[in-house]
Amino acid sequence: MAPVPVDVSSTLDASERVKALLLRLHTNSLAQEEELNKPDGKLSTLKALKSQGDAGDAAALADYQRQFDDLMRDKMIALEQDKALFVYHLCRALSATRIVEAGTSFGLSTIYLALAVGQNASKLDPEQRRAAKVIATENEPAKAILARQHWKEAGEEVEPWIELREGDLRQTLASDLPAEIDFVLFDIWTPMVVPTLRLLEPNLKKGAVIVTDNVTSSAYGYEDFHDYIKTHRNAYRSLVLPYSGGLEFTLYDP
Ligand SMILES: C[S@@+](CC[C@H](N)C(=O)[O-])C[C@H]1O[C@@H](n2cnc3c(N)ncnc32)[C@H](O)[C@@H]1O
Repeated sequence: MAPVPVDVSSTLDASERVKALLLRLHTNSLAQEEELNKPDGKLSTLKALKSQGDAGDAAALADYQRQFDDLMRDKMIALEQDKALFVYHLCRALSATRIVEAGTSFGLSTIYLALAVGQNASKLDPEQRRAAKVIATENEPAKAILARQHWKEAGEEVEPWIELREGDLRQTLASDLPAEIDFVLFDIWTPMVVPTLRLLEPNLKKGAVIVTDNVTSSAYGYEDFHDYIKTHRNAYRSLVLPYSGGLEFTLYDP
């Protein structure tokens, strides 16, 4: 039986409707992942192809990428509930109102970010409030449609605070960014992280926080990210939090 998320009513400021939606989406995501990660499942077959690709077989790598994209097209692969709650409270503590989410999928983690932005923005004057938003990013059109449906279902606490940029985020984040970004969530295929960070870096506020998912379980994929952090150690300080798969907390303090 797939694991079931816990009731977080007491730790999240949100309406019962939003809490019920979150619980439903987490439950669906966990069930999908259990199916996906079965030892004889399609993902384990693909891992062999990926190893060939990593060993330098370009055709195997291209084949892996195509099959991986096909497999993931209808999968949520959402941020786990405990990580999403941590991210929500972190954004509240930072008073973050200009957030970029790299990897949106069906919009689950975006709901947590939007709740934090809306609640933080309520303390701002009207002009600052107009600039408060989560910039969400997704390149699968079917996922973008579902994400918008979920935000609509969540309603006023969530939907107004989200701007979804559809397409490859290496293009959609290349312009029109907030002058100062408070918070970034990286929950995306690993090769996207460093190119995206380079795009965002000029607009990161001093003291901005970046959270990156699965840095331990996908350590190989994050080698370039960790090299980047190390070679720019005057600007970035990072530690890995002991969530499942490893959740990296990075402070931008140039
Ligand atoms: C792990 S999922 C995001 C899960 C989401 N944060 C949540 O918690 O519900 C990663 C998403 O990134 C999207 N993605 C991958 N490469 C992308 C790219 N180049 N541009 C935009 N989105 C991309 C995938 O389609 C996938 O839906």
